[in-house]
Amino acid sequence: MLAAKIKATLRDVPNFPKPGIIFKDITPILKDPALCGEITSALVLQLNGIKIDVVAGIESRGFLFGLALAQALDVPFVPIRKAGKLPYKTIQQSYELEYGSATLEVHEDAFGAGLQVLIHDDLLATGGTVVAASQLVEQLGAQVAGYSFLISLGFLNGKERLSSFSEDVYSLVDF
Ligand code: PRP
Ligand code: MG
Repeated sequence: MLAAKIKATLRDVPNFPKPGIIFKDITPILKDPALCGEITSALVLQLNGIKIDVVAGIESRGFLFGLALAQALDVPFVPIRKAGKLPYKTIQQSYELEYGSATLEVHEDAFGAGLQVLIHDDLLATGGTVVAASQLVEQLGAQVAGYSFLISLGFLNGKERLSSFSEDVYSLVDF
C-alpha cells in the first residue's frame, strides 16, 4: 500500500531545524523514481475529479510534486515563493510557522479572477503556510479549489484552519 511505502521511506530527523521538532525528510522518496510516479498518480486520483484550473506549489518542498501534479492534470503551475525571490510585481502575505515567521509572495498576474486553484505542499503542519497561500489566491480574486499534501500532521489541527477556504483537503499519509 502506498501510504505504508511512503511512511517506510520517509526519514524522521529529530531536533531539526530546532530542538523539539521532528523533521519529516522526503529526500529519500525523491531518490525513488518509481515511488515518485506512484505518488503523483495517487495525488491526482484522490482529487476525485474536482475542478482545477491551476496548481499552486509552495516554496520550496511544494515545488517538487506541485509541478508534477500540474503536468499530470494538464493545467498551469504557479510558484508561491518566500519574500524577495520572485522577479516581477508581487503581492505578499505574512504568516507564522511551527518554527518562526515568514512572508509568501506570488506574482500579481499569477491567477485570473474566478480561477479554481489547487494549493499543493509537501506537508500540512499548523496550516499557517497554506492559509497565507490561500489569502494570496483570494487577494487576486481566484478561489481555493482544494488542498493536496503528501503528509498531514493531524495532531496539529491544521485542517480546521482551511475549512473557510475549502473542505477539499487531501493527503496521502497522516500522522
Ligand atoms: C514546511 C513544510 C510546509 C510548512 C508546513 O516548510 O514544507 O511548507 O513547513 O508548516 P505549517 O503547516 O505549520 O505552516 P518550510 O517553511 O520549513 O520551508 P521549506 O519547504 O522551504 O523547507
Ligand atoms: Mg515548505
